[in-house]
Amino acid sequence: MNSKELRNKFLKYFEERGHKIVPSSSLIPKDSTVLLTTAGMQQFVPYLSGDHDALKELGSLHLASAQKCFRAVDIDEVGDDTHHTFFEMLGNWSIGVNDKGEYFKEGAIKFALGFFVDELGLDKEELHITIFKGDKDIPKDEEAKRIWLENGISEDKIQEMGMEDNFWGPTAQTGPCGPSSEIYYNGVEIWNLVFMEYNKKVNGSFEKLAQTNIDTGIGFERLLSLLNGVDSAYETDLFKSVIEKIESKDIKTSRIIADHIRGACFLIADGIIPSNTEKGYILRRILRRAIRFGKSVDLIDVAKVVINEYKDIYPELENNNILDVIREEQEKFGKTLENGLKQFEKLDKITGDDAFNLYQSYGFPFELTQELAEEKGIDVDENAFKNAFEKHQELSRKGMEQKFKGGLADTSEQTTKYHTATHLLLSALREVLDKDVSQKGSNITAERIRFDFNHDAKLTEEEVKRIEDLVNERIKDDLEVKFEEMPLDQARSDGAVGVFGEKYGDVVKVYTINSFSKEICGGPHVKRTSELGHFKITKQKSPGAGIRRIRAILE
Ligand code: ALA
Repeated sequence: MNSKELRNKFLKYFEERGHKIVPSSSLIPKDSTVLLTTAGMQQFVPYLSGDHDALKELGSLHLASAQKCFRAVDIDEVGDDTHHTFFEMLGNWSIGVNDKGEYFKEGAIKFALGFFVDELGLDKEELHITIFKGDKDIPKDEEAKRIWLENGISEDKIQEMGMEDNFWGPTAQTGPCGPSSEIYYNGVEIWNLVFMEYNKKVNGSFEKLAQTNIDTGIGFERLLSLLNGVDSAYETDLFKSVIEKIESKDIKTSRIIADHIRGACFLIADGIIPSNTEKGYILRRILRRAIRFGKSVDLIDVAKVVINEYKDIYPELENNNILDVIREEQEKFGKTLENGLKQFEKLDKITGDDAFNLYQSYGFPFELTQELAEEKGIDVDENAFKNAFEKHQELSRKGMEQKFKGGLADTSEQTTKYHTATHLLLSALREVLDKDVSQKGSNITAERIRFDFNHDAKLTEEEVKRIEDLVNERIKDDLEVKFEEMPLDQARSDGAVGVFGEKYGDVVKVYTINSFSKEICGGPHVKRTSELGHFKITKQKSPGAGIRRIRAILE
């Protein structure tokens, strides 16, 4: 089944069952609290939150769509089988007003089984289901479990999971959310059914929504791969001609170029242009990354193939200056890239000034320098970069933040938050796991924390939850982040933690958060923990014996 057939089949299935097909919304969300559209439900937030006046315009309580989405968080994992920056999400919605025949859990589960088993012919025996097992604030989803059992899914195929896996949303800091049930096939998560019953409030607590809604999402690329018996969407018709055009011998390189050029085409089509701020910076990053990986590839030709592949479904791809924008960025960056890389090769360590020079003179987004450094096995300190940035701009931090409001400063505000969150994380790890846990590496981008520490075992779901809860409690406590300068000896004797092997000067900065955390660190940090938002561990693995690696985000 090719991509067009699958998209149509999904929409037709729901249309025939009383759903209104709503076109994909733009990648630029109406709601400015989120940078880009990351889920199908985003355009429906007003309805899901109970704005019934808005609903009247829609004319239906049952909706379905194929939505353009973009998630920058996974950018450095693009190239494997399953990660993409741009992707499509298929979804169906039932907006509850409680007396208009809208459906809830039972309806959503029956539709999902109907589409997967009866329509697509997936083997029901191979489906695995997860349900929400409950939490201190929200009870276990017994109802979903009963419905799956009544619909022929056996007990041993149903697994109960916690907040981390089976509670969805909100996309912004507040909004509609709820427990979910996920359908897995061949060990891969394919369809997420969210039973929206709650509204998350600013203080992090949950209240019951006046109405209950259904919100579902299928990773389109994943389902397409599954139906075609391949491991990756790069092996399906969606990417076949794009990958052929790239003609790179290295699979990963081809995939990165294909993903980024596809993503760039869609971002530009929705009106984003490369810049050093916000959305424009994300576009610049993926474009410059594609240019770097695709030095001998004609990216314009690749973009033409992408446009051709998608223009029937997303006509905005035709009405735009996509090729011009890519060409212009290529001209700007292509010229300096080679020289920048030569410059980079000369360095065996990278100071803040070096990183700034690569940014200023050669157009290297900071993340590119970070990536290149990582490939070479050397560290580059984001704070040092920021300091150099300030110094060279001859701006005070305040001036810089104003000048780059929402831009580079936004990136830097976000990384400042992540620096503080890293201190809370380390303290939480020491409290939950073992007081001997120490930092073995850390890498912070505007999108996430990556943190390595000494520990032998995979963290259990329970431990992950306790760590997250602890960090979130300290955030909620709105604690002041204090700093003082003191002699290194005193810092040590006061019990401040530092990174072993790190060379500190005689006088060091010590950041203290209540009695919870005390670390030797160059900063900068936020002033109060409440600035951080909600902390969530998204991934863990072991990069080497005795070491665990966690990725975490602030939402
Ligand atoms: N909104 C849910 C998701 O994105 C369905 O997974």
